[in-house]
Amino acid sequence: MSIPCQLHPEDLSLRQSEIIGSLSYALDLTEGLPAGHAQRCCWIGMHIGHELALSDQELSDLYYTLLLKDAGCSSNASRIFALYGCDDLSLKRDFKLMDNDRFYELAKFTWSHIGLGESWRERLSRLMHLVDKGEQIGQELFLTRCEQGADIAEQLGFSPSVCAGIRALDEHWNGKGSPHHLVGEQIPLFARIALLAQVVDVFFAAGGQKAATETVNRRRGSWFDPALVDVFNRIRFLPELWDGLTDPNIAQRVVALEPLALVRNIDADELDRLTGAFAAVIDAKSPYTFGHSSRVCQYAERIAQQLGLSSPQCNWLRHAALLHDIGKLGVSNAILDKPDKLTDAEFEQVKLHPVYSQDILSKVGIFDSLALVASGHHERIDGKGYPWGLKGEQIDIATRIISVADVFDAVSAERPYRAAMPLTDALAVLDKMSGSALDGDLVATLKQTL
Ligand SMILES: [Fe+2]
Ligand SMILES: [Fe+2]
Repeated sequence: MSIPCQLHPEDLSLRQSEIIGSLSYALDLTEGLPAGHAQRCCWIGMHIGHELALSDQELSDLYYTLLLKDAGCSSNASRIFALYGCDDLSLKRDFKLMDNDRFYELAKFTWSHIGLGESWRERLSRLMHLVDKGEQIGQELFLTRCEQGADIAEQLGFSPSVCAGIRALDEHWNGKGSPHHLVGEQIPLFARIALLAQVVDVFFAAGGQKAATETVNRRRGSWFDPALVDVFNRIRFLPELWDGLTDPNIAQRVVALEPLALVRNIDADELDRLTGAFAAVIDAKSPYTFGHSSRVCQYAERIAQQLGLSSPQCNWLRHAALLHDIGKLGVSNAILDKPDKLTDAEFEQVKLHPVYSQDILSKVGIFDSLALVASGHHERIDGKGYPWGLKGEQIDIATRIISVADVFDAVSAERPYRAAMPLTDALAVLDKMSGSALDGDLVATLKQTL
């Protein structure tokens, strides 16, 4: 059986920074930002770190704070959609271009996004709710995101400094930030740098150097540590700073920025932790798919073991299962959280998620073969699947295993709008799909393990 096993420990020689850098593209998608945002923030923030003459250990911690600053981004997406009733991705993107310390800007932003497409009555009702509970809701959204991000960094084994930097990302120098209203130097240095880097990248993308520089200086002492703004005002004259922000090969520049003495190649256990952590990010995006990636992983493993696959092959399939839906981070919760039938236009958006998965996973060599599985997990044996319409033998065995595990979880798991389907009913659905959508032999194999 031809199933790759590239994740065998002997084959692992990639830098941790390279893998996390590549997976950070998934976090950019969830924030509704152009691909490479986390990498560009790392580029900007590390220039600040060097100008501050930080030690190698501090630079290493800053490096991962910057790459993982949005690790908690998926955890509040569903809540944002429920509150605002609009596309969470565009709301998050536009929020970053606004100064929420200023009441007028915040009010204008809120009205331009809340309940878009709904009646005036519904929009006003949402607005009244936000006005009434605004402070509490804001704290809750930021708290969820920051704590989840810090938890993920901790799971990955990063230092308390990295976790603290991620946890305090949205705090402002003047105490008007969230969630804890920390003031001045109460805010960890890495968080102060990460927020400044984020604003530079977002405003540079929107209006070039001038917009980025003006915004940073306008927020000196309100959002930002004045001393860091002074550092920025020195490094902004480096042409390479801005060249990096438009370089399509920013990933290579960022890999080269990691302190050489602290570079680490990833081992098999760390790769397990990384894929598990990113599966948790994926699964936190919507209550409708909560726990999905980890359950698909369990079912795929059962099939693999039943087929007698080798341990490296089982490991490889486990990673493929954990990351197969990583592209869902780029789909709006307005679609993912919709209990009713999707419109054709909405379904077209859903159909893009395997393509996004492929885009993200193919950015790093070690995941190349996972990218193929992820891109093909909604293909069907009869050729009626998406996104490529592959048929029969064109769909490799690994992809077919993930498809069976994926469909089994989709039909059997408990959802917010329905109880878990009894096992016999779920298996009847799979039987109906055998030979048309799914590989009948693999469906039979899964049944032997239940
Ligand atoms: Fe999927
Ligand atoms: Fe899935």
